[in-house]
Amino acid sequence: MEQQKRYGHFDDQHREYVITDPQTPWPWINYLGNEDFFSLISNTAGGYSFYKDAKFRRITRYRYNNVPMDNGGRYFYVKDGETVWNPGWKPCKTPLDFYECRHGMSYTRITGRKNEVEASVLFFVPLKKWAEVQKLTLTNQSKETKQLKLFSFEEWCLWNAATDMENFQRNFSTGEVEIEGSTIYHKTEYRERRNHYAFYHVNAPIQGFDTDRETFVGLYNEFANPDAVMEGKPRNSHAHGWSPIASHYIEATLAPGESKDFVFLLGYIENEQDKKFSAPQVINKEKAHALIAELDTTEKVDKAFAELNEYWDALLNIYNVRTGNDKLDRMVNIWNQYQCMVTFNFSRSASFFESGVGRGMGFRDSNQDLVGFVHQIPPRARQRIIDIASTQFPDGGCYHQYQPLTKRGNNDIGGGFNDDPCWLIFGTVAYIKETGDFSILDEMVPFDNQPGSEVTLFEHLKISMDHVIKNLGPHMLPLIGRADWNDCLNLNCFSWDPNESFQTTENVSEGTKAESLMIAGLFVVTGKDYVALCKQIGKNDEAERMQQAVDAMVEAVKKHGWDGEWYLRAYDFYGRKIGSNECEEAKIFIESQGWCTMAEIGAEEGMVAKSLDSCKKYLECEHGMVLNNPAFTKYIYEYGEISSYPEGYKENAGIFCHNNPWVIIGECIAGRGNDAWSHYAKILPSYVEEKYQTLHKVEPYVNCQMVAGKDAFRPGEGKNSWLTGTAAWMWYTVSEFILGIKPDYDGIRIDPCLPETATDYTVSRKFREADYEITIHPNGSQKGVKQITLDGQPIQGTVIPYSAGKHIVEVTM
Ligand code: BGC
Ligand code: NOJ
Repeated sequence: MEQQKRYGHFDDQHREYVITDPQTPWPWINYLGNEDFFSLISNTAGGYSFYKDAKFRRITRYRYNNVPMDNGGRYFYVKDGETVWNPGWKPCKTPLDFYECRHGMSYTRITGRKNEVEASVLFFVPLKKWAEVQKLTLTNQSKETKQLKLFSFEEWCLWNAATDMENFQRNFSTGEVEIEGSTIYHKTEYRERRNHYAFYHVNAPIQGFDTDRETFVGLYNEFANPDAVMEGKPRNSHAHGWSPIASHYIEATLAPGESKDFVFLLGYIENEQDKKFSAPQVINKEKAHALIAELDTTEKVDKAFAELNEYWDALLNIYNVRTGNDKLDRMVNIWNQYQCMVTFNFSRSASFFESGVGRGMGFRDSNQDLVGFVHQIPPRARQRIIDIASTQFPDGGCYHQYQPLTKRGNNDIGGGFNDDPCWLIFGTVAYIKETGDFSILDEMVPFDNQPGSEVTLFEHLKISMDHVIKNLGPHMLPLIGRADWNDCLNLNCFSWDPNESFQTTENVSEGTKAESLMIAGLFVVTGKDYVALCKQIGKNDEAERMQQAVDAMVEAVKKHGWDGEWYLRAYDFYGRKIGSNECEEAKIFIESQGWCTMAEIGAEEGMVAKSLDSCKKYLECEHGMVLNNPAFTKYIYEYGEISSYPEGYKENAGIFCHNNPWVIIGECIAGRGNDAWSHYAKILPSYVEEKYQTLHKVEPYVNCQMVAGKDAFRPGEGKNSWLTGTAAWMWYTVSEFILGIKPDYDGIRIDPCLPETATDYTVSRKFREADYEITIHPNGSQKGVKQITLDGQPIQGTVIPYSAGKHIVEVTM
């Protein structure tokens, strides 16, 4: 194996990843903000900010896929004599004497040192505030007095990130700013319909500023050498149209050993319609002044930062494990949970692979993200479930995506993805098990956001199940629609026209025989959950009705969905098998193995065990399990986008990390702890981090969507980091199925599935109003709880009955 260069390491005590070389193999980013105001920040301070919606309320500008990569962000330029440098190395790229970036829980601290001057910037979004704080500490570590010139820099986005990148005939004439003391206001389009503006402030007097980009940078220069900075002279430019920016200029004299703090604040304000202006054309700045006043000293900022840290202490205290294996503990206790919060917040909208203009919140995505998040802040999960269900149609189908700002279904993509409805059961059941809050089922929830159309959430669940039952194909298996979970298996699309979108072109769904075994398995798993839920609330007839549908589905899978060694993947438009030994390529797919083993379909007949063995035999490789095998080598127009990808990438035999946990859970349910663990460790970031930092390329502290598979040019290379359902699934897998702590209606079910090498471990779990301290003694066993004691008393069965207060639990396997 080629020796892998390392770019950083974990610091568990501070819950940080420490990057020590700015030239990471790809920008390694972090997220700031928890509810309304958000930022993306790379290890060189690249990235952007937005309010709620990365498309409709983009605050600062960013150009994706730029050269050089990751150009644009919040930059501080330090001019010390003739040397100009940035604490994050970019954009000047002046070699630094010291560089470090610490990505932590909703904050990032970047420190650079040059010629005995240190600049350290702490970036974070305070709780409940619509602003990004950038606390810059400048320290003179030399024996001489330093006369430094400091320039800040942000570039404004004209709010709509999509039109900002394309409608130049308008954009170049609309830009407007105001300057007041040390605050630069961005108010483009405020004169008409917008009631919001942004500002960039510093809590110190400034000796100059710039707001016009070309004046500051120079038309033929770059961020790396802006005219104003290189000459050490701000232009005091006032933007009218073109591209407004915000740059402060500060002269700082530092005695030997002296340190100075500057608090920069990037804020966002909304005004009431009748309070927009304080004078004709002058924006009402009252709220901005108030926001600035809350964060205008080091003390206030430090306090807000301490509050943010306490917020994370509390969140990460809900589930905490001590196994003695640092690589496992740090993922479970810190990074996996952190990534779950991020995916809950952003779904698939904004990352360094998602441009923030396309996807919004996915119906299936957000439901799955819930299982990683629901234990953290249940009330937010509750609201999310209602928002998602509100985009459903009366027939149980639903919009595939919706915009976070408007919460409206996205018409461009529409509906017709036939797995979508099932996920609403998945998310809702997870919420009720965590909280015991059955009242959510009685919430009145509209269809397609239409007032007056409300029915109970329970009714939404019912029509979701019915949507599957009403759309069965010739083998009594679920019709796939545009696609199931695999967006790229487009069996009704038949496209030869590159101008068509695989996702939305469905020209032949009339008369289709295309059925999905993935939805079949998903239906059985969520159907069983639905039946159990109905019984909990005394709807026994409904439980019975659905049990029959589930049983029928199980029979259909056994009869028409088994290929001898594994489950089939689908039937195509003509009713021909997909994912069968009879096929020329892609003989086996992972999704149906995952869902049908989780559903335990045909377990007695040996199907589950054979399917899991086939995953090991045909799908597994050094870096995880690939999606299908062998990879498609040519475009098959009956199959759609899947075969459009080169071998080993994305849905064509990539290691699509999201679905590996499905098989791992299948292994756990089957009691095969050694296999479950070995699959899990292969895609666990901390294990990958140790061996493959260069090859893996993307952030080593979180899962990415896809790792190039065994058929790819460079197996092991990761892509599409951060915003992936993998986060929630890894969490669900390890917390509930491997470590075995499962929230249930009446308490916590204990059911670990471990490698036989596992030693004793303890999980602290806050659950509703209770605090459990659960110690598991595996005794070399992979599965099977022998005895549980609760506060010293043996209990019957494996569910610890819920009661508030502190409890000690001992589990012998
Ligand atoms: C992409 C897929 C991706 C999907 C997400 C498709 O257009 O090609 O790889 O997973 O969109 O919705
Ligand atoms: C990413 C999408 O967000 C998700 O909904 C889909 O299931 C996977 N791609 C697989 O295609």
